[in-house]
Amino acid sequence: MPATYKRTLVTSALPYANGPVHIGHLAGCYLPSDIFVRYKRSKGEDVIFICGSDEHGVPITIKAKKEGVSPQDVVDKYHKMMGDAFKGFGISFDIYSRTSNKVHHETASDFFKTLYDKHVFTEEITEQYYDTEAKQFLADRYITGTCPKCSNPNAYGDQCEKCGSTLSATDLINPQSTLSGSKPVLKETKNWFLPLDKLQPKIQSYLDQHKDWKTNVYGQCKSWLDSGEGLQPRAMTRDLNWGVPVPVKGAEGKVLYVWFDAPIGYISATKELKPDTWELYWKDKSTRLIHFIGKDNIVFHCIIFPSMLMEHGDYILPDNVPANEFLNLEGDKISTSRNWAVWLHEYLIDFKDKQDVLRYTLCSNAPETKDNDFTWADFQTKNNSELVAILGNFVNRTLVLTHKYYNGSVPAPETYTKEDLLILEQLASFPDKIASAIEQFKFREALAEMMNLARLGNKYLAETEPWKLIKSDEIRVKTIMNIALQITCNLAVVCEPFLPFTSQKLFGMLNMPLLKWHSAKQTSNMAAGHQINKEELLFAKIEDPEIQLQIDKLAQSKSVNTATVIPPSKPETSFDEFSKMDIRTGTILEAERVPKTDKLLKLKIDTGIDTRTVVSGIAEWYKPEEIIGQQVSILVNLAPRKIKGIESRGMILMAANSQGELSFVSATKPAFNNGSEVK
Ligand code: 2FM
Ligand code: ZN
Repeated sequence: MPATYKRTLVTSALPYANGPVHIGHLAGCYLPSDIFVRYKRSKGEDVIFICGSDEHGVPITIKAKKEGVSPQDVVDKYHKMMGDAFKGFGISFDIYSRTSNKVHHETASDFFKTLYDKHVFTEEITEQYYDTEAKQFLADRYITGTCPKCSNPNAYGDQCEKCGSTLSATDLINPQSTLSGSKPVLKETKNWFLPLDKLQPKIQSYLDQHKDWKTNVYGQCKSWLDSGEGLQPRAMTRDLNWGVPVPVKGAEGKVLYVWFDAPIGYISATKELKPDTWELYWKDKSTRLIHFIGKDNIVFHCIIFPSMLMEHGDYILPDNVPANEFLNLEGDKISTSRNWAVWLHEYLIDFKDKQDVLRYTLCSNAPETKDNDFTWADFQTKNNSELVAILGNFVNRTLVLTHKYYNGSVPAPETYTKEDLLILEQLASFPDKIASAIEQFKFREALAEMMNLARLGNKYLAETEPWKLIKSDEIRVKTIMNIALQITCNLAVVCEPFLPFTSQKLFGMLNMPLLKWHSAKQTSNMAAGHQINKEELLFAKIEDPEIQLQIDKLAQSKSVNTATVIPPSKPETSFDEFSKMDIRTGTILEAERVPKTDKLLKLKIDTGIDTRTVVSGIAEWYKPEEIIGQQVSILVNLAPRKIKGIESRGMILMAANSQGELSFVSATKPAFNNGSEVK
């Protein structure tokens, strides 16, 4: 950190409060930011760590509608769940706030008003889809229709999930409101735009001063600026009823764009945390502002939010935005809707007290420069072959021998050999090596260095073999064990940012207070005669069945997902057309296989009107003897057809899943008289 900076303000992206958090979230920004902040605190620097729930935006209103609850209910539920999960993993925010707070509404509203009064925004009247039945403008996600590119009838107003095209709602063929099902109409509406096109030169020069940013971040920003048309004006208000109301006349029924209010959430949360001194963190040029985010948030933090801050004028700008790429899971994209995720709240139950194992695996495999994959097999290996076999093993051997030879009292060193002096020199060099990697946001490298210290300890013990030497040279063993204890203590210091639970446990076993970063440059933290506590295992082996359980859980999601692929709806039909279908309840009286076929059964059905023969393709799913007495729905006025020489009069209705399995559609409880109409 340049000497000119006096303090650091670290933010971690505010997650949307519309679902629980998973390993992708943790690896993306919460773990790296936590490591960074813990390290800074350990160095004794002035740092604050800000986060909270992003509680506005359309996805929250959609979730609420789907669950039949209010948006406030949705955000209350997930705010608590996410906050608990972060805490469970030791993510040490100084505050975990939320954007539905009063202080946030006021702060975001004032911010908007300032830009408005400075005439920063351009006002534009555009035509937007409006639902005349629901009496509201429709966000893109509330409109479905046929994709003009691939004819998918279920495309959204902003995207077709079948062909992946980005769309405008007005591109859709036969648009439909998902609120009322009615056809939306285009209606004029006024919104306020941030003229990013005009601001482009300022952004350009801001980015030019930050060529040191991670290549993936700087590269993405450049591609926004250098794209054909350059930056485009973006609406900062929306016609929606959930969010921060737009604080100007003529904006009734409109709220701030969620990406306008969310980053201001960092400011509001700081105000909440430090009501008297928050301005120092946001307005004093000697504060360094760093945003930790995932790659999908780059444009908002590197272009849009800095533009807002610049135009406001009172605020400092982000000095760095160390965004990570994405984490995949077992070779597939993490997906909330497909339940393809490792949920943090579930992990905390399944792997109680093993938070550091996940922290370790995610950090050592962090998607720092490219997308990466999490696999359960790798998780097991990282635990068993690294945490248990390297770090745990070294600490355990050292503490066990200290108890065995000296009843837990730290022995005084005698004469150092040349090798000892080299080890002590190396030991003292670790904090700087680890720090340098952390300062460059290279957390994988930093973690690997930390483990190298444990490796150094193991190597030292393996080479000096105190367990053999004790029989012949007790004096020499005292020096060896003293050095091993110094290494253990320094490990407790430098592993803290990565493995805070382990560090705490280790300091407990050493009977030492939590030491700060600079102490790890010393090689005599453990004084001779200091009494250590009884050792416990730092890490336990994870056995195959525990891993298998997790793999099975994922396999279950996969099979549910395949079973629930919903075919698109067919083109509209009229009520008159539908009324022509005469569907009745009936009962199967007899059933037999149609000879020389695999799929067909010949059924005799009591339709209430008559008893008739129907040939049905259900033999793969039902044995004839199973379905005698089964009540069914039957289309009785279907024109007769000859199938394999048998006249079939009607068709029984079956539900089919995406694997083609069939199941009866029947009036079940209570059974209806045969011949009842199905409407
Ligand atoms: O991508 C997301 O989850 C957003 N809710 C992140 C917002 S970050 C900040 F701007 F608040
Ligand atoms: Zn399409």
